Amino acid sequence: LLPLQEYLLARIDRERLDPLNRQLYRALRDAIQTGLLGKGQALPASRELAKVLALGRNTVLHAYEQLTAEGFLAARQGSATLVAFEADAAPMGIKADRQPAVAAALSARAQAVLSGTGRRDVPEVAAFMPGLPDLAAFPWPVWQRLLQRRQRAASPHDAAYLHAGGHPALKEALAAYLRLSRGVNCDAAQILVTGGMQQTLQLIALALADAGDCAWVEEPGYPGAKAAWLACDMRVAPVPVDVSGLNWQATSLPGPRLVYITPSQQYPLGAVMPLHRRQALLATAAELGAWVVEDDYDSEFRHHGQPLAALQGLDDHGRVLYLGTFSKVMFPSLRLGYLVAPPSLVDPLRRLQARLFREGDYAVQAALADFMAEGHFAAHVRRMRVVYARRQARLRSILAAELGCELDADWGTDLPGGFALLGGAAGMHVTLRLPVGWDDGVVSRALADIGLAAPALSTYCMGPPPFPGLVLGYAGVDDAGLTLAAVKLARLLRELGPVAHRVPP
Ligand SMILES: Cc1ncc(COP(=O)(O)O)c(C=O)c1O
Repeated sequence: LLPLQEYLLARIDRERLDPLNRQLYRALRDAIQTGLLGKGQALPASRELAKVLALGRNTVLHAYEQLTAEGFLAARQGSATLVAFEADAAPMGIKADRQPAVAAALSARAQAVLSGTGRRDVPEVAAFMPGLPDLAAFPWPVWQRLLQRRQRAASPHDAAYLHAGGHPALKEALAAYLRLSRGVNCDAAQILVTGGMQQTLQLIALALADAGDCAWVEEPGYPGAKAAWLACDMRVAPVPVDVSGLNWQATSLPGPRLVYITPSQQYPLGAVMPLHRRQALLATAAELGAWVVEDDYDSEFRHHGQPLAALQGLDDHGRVLYLGTFSKVMFPSLRLGYLVAPPSLVDPLRRLQARLFREGDYAVQAALADFMAEGHFAAHVRRMRVVYARRQARLRSILAAELGCELDADWGTDLPGGFALLGGAAGMHVTLRLPVGWDDGVVSRALADIGLAAPALSTYCMGPPPFPGLVLGYAGVDDAGLTLAAVKLARLLRELGPVAHRVPP
């Protein structure tokens, strides 16, 4: 067989669901784009190729016609079909990494988002990935049954362009849950169901801030908040955190329009904002005319002490927007989050949401309302709280035994050398402080090379990090996987010691 025919035979698989003409089209297109077929080269006659590949002639003709219409091939009456495209010439439907100098064409806004929020070269689904729940432990059969029931019974009304801020049953279920379990002061009318935290943050900035307005964010802090607000042309000002959370009093920053905080468990270091700091922040926000954006991302999984009430419940001035996500208790690809707005903002936010993003899938939202109303949500939270607490304890004991890691360190007062674990009173991650002078980016990349996804603390910072560290999610892999990963991590850190130091300037 000729090389081209051999290549095509290898690419065509009759077991696959996509039609044979699409398979042939894609195989030929790839051959042209990668330069395997050069410009001016003649393709076999359709009849001949059909015979060699044991395909119908129409199948081949279809593929040739499509490629001709897209400019990859040129057909001339009575002569062979030729390749009309040079691998490095103008791309059409070509992968982004083949496009030359695309960075230069990006908007200043996109460049600010991409450069201002840290780049992580870690695997997406691997041990220590922060924010990743245990997806194998999710009750999929129950969820699928509820989803199918709602999809079968979907009303045509629910399939329209709606602007109620979410399915009424889900808003009711959420309001009841947030009042009871989080002390949020709300009724269902104040809730907007969104496409997840990123969309909520963007909606808030688009609604309440103009280009150039200042936003305070925690440093270190959630890169998603910075990205969402940089994308809305806000000036994002990092504000240091201490053992009590956001410490704006120590800085002289321009007054903000928006203040992003994670008071129940500072992300990623784990500080809990005490009552006096909460009250001071609310007073400052009222004085400066700022909106406080409270991200309560993982309080469901509280491992020590009583559940904490949300800061929103203390707000007498109507200046707090309370945000949550279903990514942790359910699963990230569900893409559902929510916002509890002060009454004055409900109507404009709902109208803006409908204009800018539209509303999500009401059948999915109704199924989620059922999942909550029938007790599956609470049962899953209870079950996973036990599992996650066990995994955190396992991680702690391995790091203490293998690295001499200090547990429950108070990083706010002094920063001695050596390893220390921070946070962990709630949620799905802890932060491992590395010895002074280590480069956490180097360590994180070395871990990625052995399949571990521990992002460097410096990628959560806009300036230099307060100390080098790794953020370690412990929820996403099972007990055995976590144990193995923790041992691998400790070993690598011991080996890396001598090379992890920053090169002196
Ligand atoms: C602080 C914080 N907020 C929110 C989220 C989740 O956001 P989303 O709803 O976009 O999945 C995460 C995910 O890791 C997070 O760490």
